Amino acid sequence: MNAIPQGAAAGEVPAHVRNAKLIDWVARIARLTQPAAIHWCDGSQEEYERLCQRLVDAGTFKRLNPQLRPGSYLACSDPSDVARVEDRTFICSVRREDAGPTNNWVDPGEMRQLLQTGDKALFRGSMRGRTMYVVPFSMGPLGSPISHIGVELSDSPYVAVNMRLMTRMGRPVLELLGSDGDFVPCVHSVGAPLQPGQADVPWPCNAEQKYIVHYPETSEIWSYGSGYGGNALLGKKCFALRIASRMGRDQGWLAEHMLILGVTTPGGHKYHVAAAFPSACGKTNFAMLIPPASMPGWKITTIGDDIAWIKPGADGRLYAINPEAGYFGVAPGTNVETNPNCMRSLERDVIFTNVALTDDGDVWWEGMGPAPAHAIDWQGRDWTPELAATNGTRAAHPNARFTVAATNNPALDPAWDDPAGVAIDAFVFGGRRSTTVPLVTEARNWLEGVYMAATMGSETTAAAAGQQGVVRRDPFAMLPFCGYHMGDYFRHWIDMENRLRGLGSKLPHIFCVNWFRKGSDGRFVWPGYGENARVLKWMIERIEGTAQGQANFFGVSPRHADLDWSGLDFDAARFATVIDSSAPQWIEELRLHDELFARLSPRVPDELQATRQALQAALES
Ligand code: OXD
Ligand code: MN
Repeated sequence: MNAIPQGAAAGEVPAHVRNAKLIDWVARIARLTQPAAIHWCDGSQEEYERLCQRLVDAGTFKRLNPQLRPGSYLACSDPSDVARVEDRTFICSVRREDAGPTNNWVDPGEMRQLLQTGDKALFRGSMRGRTMYVVPFSMGPLGSPISHIGVELSDSPYVAVNMRLMTRMGRPVLELLGSDGDFVPCVHSVGAPLQPGQADVPWPCNAEQKYIVHYPETSEIWSYGSGYGGNALLGKKCFALRIASRMGRDQGWLAEHMLILGVTTPGGHKYHVAAAFPSACGKTNFAMLIPPASMPGWKITTIGDDIAWIKPGADGRLYAINPEAGYFGVAPGTNVETNPNCMRSLERDVIFTNVALTDDGDVWWEGMGPAPAHAIDWQGRDWTPELAATNGTRAAHPNARFTVAATNNPALDPAWDDPAGVAIDAFVFGGRRSTTVPLVTEARNWLEGVYMAATMGSETTAAAAGQQGVVRRDPFAMLPFCGYHMGDYFRHWIDMENRLRGLGSKLPHIFCVNWFRKGSDGRFVWPGYGENARVLKWMIERIEGTAQGQANFFGVSPRHADLDWSGLDFDAARFATVIDSSAPQWIEELRLHDELFARLSPRVPDELQATRQALQAALES
């Protein structure tokens, strides 16, 4: 074990650590935050188990019944620390206009003063009484030309064990870093220093102050006050999306909020699809989808479920890797019908957060299956179905999560860890919309596809703190994750077309989907989940040039006869209610596009404004 005992100097570094910049930075952050000990993570199974035991001893973890859920734990967070905090997330670029109007911005000098340099800086002494974990991680396969290395310093052992499941973490990364390799520095503190003799709480965090801060010019991340998911596992949203999107813009690649899946056809052809949906809109379900029995020979395999890093290859095709190595997915609603592969992934070696504990030491959440007669809810209170019926109390928090290694997934694609990545054949963009947006539309060209993605709207979910169910524009499903001006991001996507064409390549097709249309009874019309394979099949056949469709004022959508309905009773009248584009609704929709463009003005590319005008004209005719 590489822990330095309480009070020891921060300078004792394991012999295998050779990177001078890393050693110096760890010492500097230790001087600032004053942890009682430093633990250099090696990423071994033995270390993982030891840290999990430490979390059990601290009351953060409950070990689940090893007969029912081997190697698994339940953590319940402080009720104030259950989701990403978008209003406390900052892009501190040197110039405000480079962060753009969709990001919170504070002058970097001022922010550094507040967090690091001022007399009362929040990180000053913030790790007192705690161990600082040094977590070296690779986002992407070790050594891939698309991957990058980060190091997170965190005073949360919950973060250290989650990072082991979510990333390639530990000693092999330090070896790759060598003596002069570069890394993205990520500093995280729960913001709850302990005085000598002070007892800890099971979920330390800072209820008053939370800051999730990015300095894009220097590729640095500082996170204070939250121990939860995307606020604290800094490889994920902070690095792999906010910092990486900016790196990608500067270096000519893309960092996207996209799952990546492989589709194998009955003819044995393999295609790769990258799909962007906002948080908690079914990316994990889509990435693990099992086609219905009536579609024999179609097979879906998972490369990633949340984030894609995508680079043009010398052949002009776009190659994608999943920078992550695990899934941090939403538990409620997941069951053997909606996502059988996910339920199998969750049979062992899982960290659950904010689900309910059953009396036999297993977990339960709303939408998992029959409710237990009694459980302990995510806040530690007695829960029964009767109580839930009386006062609506939920057993699991709506944003309850599981953390599990990708290797648990029975549908894992053999190329998921391939350093070369997989060549993307199609991009899919989807929001959660009860009305207006059709089940599926194919863009007629790259620019139309970029327009569709840029103007996407979606109803908000529990993945972020704040009001739920309100439609907001969520361009490319990147609204909370784009590390620079959204208008410049649109420009980057538009410019990718010429870049790829210049390399002589056929461009990926672009589709827009909406699984969430509701009928007048307020219920979802489209069955979704495995049945989405029918839509995927149409997309693949469009790529192959065999499927028909009907041109709309906007893109091309299938008619009823163009989809495979074998084994599903879904008549033309019902289909009409999920595929139609009603003119009055679209006139209002275009007005909302205008609002977005006005907000991003003057950095909205002219091509998108021109597309907007052409759509209006097409709609009016
Ligand atoms: C996530 C999110 O956790 O998007 O993936 O919120
Ligand atoms: Mn996500």
